[in-house]
Amino acid sequence: MFFKILAVLSLLPVLAYAQETNFVYNGFRSANLSLDGIAGVTSNGLLKLTNDTKQRTGHAFYPDPVQFKNSPNGSVYSFSTAFVFAIHPQYATLSGHGIVFVIAPQRGLPGSLASQYLGMFNETDNGNSTNHVFGVELDTIQSKEFNDIDDNHVGIDLNGLRSANSTPAGYYADGGEFKNLTLISHKEMQVWVDYNGTEKRIDVTLAPINVQKPQTPLLSHRQDLSSIINQSMYVGFSSSTGSVLTSHYVLGWSFRVNGEAQALAPSQLPKLPRIGKKETSKVLTIGLPLMVLFVVSMLILSVVYVIRRKRKFAEVLEEWERDYGPHRFKFKDLYIATKGFRDQELLGTGGFGRVYRGILPTSRMEIAVKRVSHESRQGMREFVAEIISIGRLRHRNIVSLLGYCRRKGELLLVYDYMPNGSLDKYLHNQPKATLNWKQRLRVIKGVASGLLYLHEGWEQVVIHRDIKASNILLDAELNGRLGDFGLARLYDHGTDPQTTHVVGTLGYLAPEHTRTGKATRNTDVYAFGAFLLEVACGRRPIERRDPEDVILVDWVFSCWNRGAILEARDPRLGAEFVEEEMELVLKLGLICSHSDPLMRPSMRQVLQYLEGDIPMPELLSMGLSSGGLTFAHREGFDDLAMSYPTSTSKAFTNSSSVAESHLSGGR
Ligand SMILES: *[C@@H]1O[C@H](CO)[C@@H](O)[C@H](O)[C@H]1NC(C)=O
Ligand SMILES: *[C@@H]1O[C@H](CO)[C@@H](O)[C@H](O)[C@H]1NC(C)=O
Ligand SMILES: *[C@@H]1O[C@H](CO)[C@@H](O)[C@H](O)[C@H]1NC(C)=O
Ligand SMILES: *[C@@H]1O[C@H](CO)[C@@H](O)[C@H](O)[C@H]1NC(C)=O
Ligand SMILES: *[C@@H]1O[C@H](CO)[C@@H](O)[C@H](O)[C@H]1NC(C)=O
Ligand SMILES: *[C@@H]1O[C@H](CO)[C@@H](O)[C@H](O)[C@H]1NC(C)=O
Ligand SMILES: *[C@@H]1O[C@H](CO)[C@@H](O)[C@H](O)[C@H]1NC(C)=O
Ligand SMILES: *[C@@H]1O[C@H](CO)[C@@H](O)[C@H](O)[C@H]1NC(C)=O
Repeated sequence: MFFKILAVLSLLPVLAYAQETNFVYNGFRSANLSLDGIAGVTSNGLLKLTNDTKQRTGHAFYPDPVQFKNSPNGSVYSFSTAFVFAIHPQYATLSGHGIVFVIAPQRGLPGSLASQYLGMFNETDNGNSTNHVFGVELDTIQSKEFNDIDDNHVGIDLNGLRSANSTPAGYYADGGEFKNLTLISHKEMQVWVDYNGTEKRIDVTLAPINVQKPQTPLLSHRQDLSSIINQSMYVGFSSSTGSVLTSHYVLGWSFRVNGEAQALAPSQLPKLPRIGKKETSKVLTIGLPLMVLFVVSMLILSVVYVIRRKRKFAEVLEEWERDYGPHRFKFKDLYIATKGFRDQELLGTGGFGRVYRGILPTSRMEIAVKRVSHESRQGMREFVAEIISIGRLRHRNIVSLLGYCRRKGELLLVYDYMPNGSLDKYLHNQPKATLNWKQRLRVIKGVASGLLYLHEGWEQVVIHRDIKASNILLDAELNGRLGDFGLARLYDHGTDPQTTHVVGTLGYLAPEHTRTGKATRNTDVYAFGAFLLEVACGRRPIERRDPEDVILVDWVFSCWNRGAILEARDPRLGAEFVEEEMELVLKLGLICSHSDPLMRPSMRQVLQYLEGDIPMPELLSMGLSSGGLTFAHREGFDDLAMSYPTSTSKAFTNSSSVAESHLSGGR
């Protein structure tokens, strides 16, 4: 019993020795290959025989020895191997140097050289029969010293690099047609090496990865390997690089002695790195930073754009303004409407600011936008409340205020667009009459009716406070419309008008207004009187002349005093007017300019006189005298000049531009 066990134990090494090698690797992640040189296994299981290093070798061997004979003098068994490889060169047409399947007496091939020696031999041992090295080379460089046929061939090497047999790479398709293959094409290809120990024949077959093993081998060579392959040998791969960076990959490998090597499973093979890795890295090293730079700069630009846009279209909107929502315009819309407040859209520059023409982006409605600058927020709330109230005024002789917009330091008022502009440009500085008498009378009646509406026709009394030709706008049918309520003050019916600072335009200011600072309906009537004379005479209330200024009302009065009131009419009208109407208008102008506010008619009466509903009172009966008129005016002028030079306390009504308009007189 004991001896039996001993006998079995002593037999064990013999049995192990006789075991026939048979392995398959679909990827090398778990393989225990013996690597040297620059060979390595990547994290995804690729056997990378050479990395991107020049003039180096790489070897990978199956770790255990393989028994090829049953005795040192015996003949070599049949064996078979299959492997998938790929070569990734730096350049499409240039590579170095290839892969060799080797059977060698040792793991690794000590003393071997890189480049054309393929990591197998060196110049002293190349071709020496004592090497006992068998190889199947996939050579990508034509080395003339070893009689290479070309730079893309498969060869059988026996102890040296001078191939015993070789042929260009390719395969015989099933029809027998030969198809070239390019070893350095980056593509995965499969190689089968079969040695028939009976027939002493080596068959080498090559095919693309997706093609079944061809029936006809690429290379078939009769050779008894018994003198080359010793009893115990190692199998593996050798590769080398020259001066061109090349990666040599083996993706899978199977080997078997005395039988056909197991088929590889293409689906289980590890993935190769992307084709054109070098170019990708170029894209990565140069393109990516450029792209990042581009993206970042685009981002910065768009942020700057957004911020600038936000700043450009920034508005001031306070809580109390929420109620005025419908009257609130977006600055952006106004900006677009006026094409960015271009000079070409400028309609005019008034005492308060510039007026631009515009077309609202959505409704295509024509508008006029007045930009009024303001510094303080003080009084703003009251002012906005007022303009909203005014915005509710609707009369055919009043320019509609559509709404407003507020920005930092600026208020924008949006009005109906009046295509024919302001009246004063028709009256002054024109060589010929551009408005005939009929049209002028219609404007006068229209303004009178609009003013009556302000004074009596609405829920609140609205005092316009700045009636003059330049504030009368003409619509498409040349109807006069009262515009520019910048100075208007609202009073609730029945309450005492508050005393405010004097505002208005010199020549239109009633004497008691400059004295008391109170704007009333009567002061509006006074201004309307000055306006009547302005339209009828075609002259400004005060004309600067040497040696003395011409005070229009005084001059008309003197004409009347001479019994020739019609001489005061605008000479440009010639004979084209109705005498009775002209006389009526001139006389009404004088009556409205009465220095005693109580003697002035109301707007209702004015309209009745104009329509001829009631006869006008006689001027004489009203105690109108030249002295009274002149005095009244003079007084007003002096008062103003002395007492109200530049008052600036209230946001709008007293802005310096108003003061300027006081002193420039009649404009
Ligand atoms: C190639 O492999 C060698 C040895 O493993 C290593 O020293 C070298 O850095 C590798 N080169 C590259 C480019 O990966
Ligand atoms: C791997 O192979 C080496 C010899 O190359 C051997 O010493 C080692 O034990 C092997 N390891 C495994 C896990 O097979
Ligand atoms: C093997 O061959 C050598 C000479 O080639 C010879 O000397 C030796 O006896 C042989 N051994 C066997 C076991 O045949
Ligand atoms: C060539 O290789 C052999 C081993 O195969 C080694 O003994 C020898 O030193 C090498 N010669 C040179 C010049 O490297
Ligand atoms: C072959 O190599 C052996 C030693 O490795 C050497 O003695 C012999 O001269 C070499 N033969 C030739 C032809 O170089
Ligand atoms: C195949 O390669 C050979 C030699 O490299 C060449 O002469 C032949 O034209 C090639 N055939 C095709 C179809 O590319
Ligand atoms: C070797 O060739 C012989 C004759 O053609 C054949 O019978 C045998 O199966 C082949 N052996 C192998 C391992 O292919
Ligand atoms: C190979 O075998 C031969 C004879 O069988 C022997 O002389 C030689 O030393 C062996 N070579 C190696 C490298 O084992």
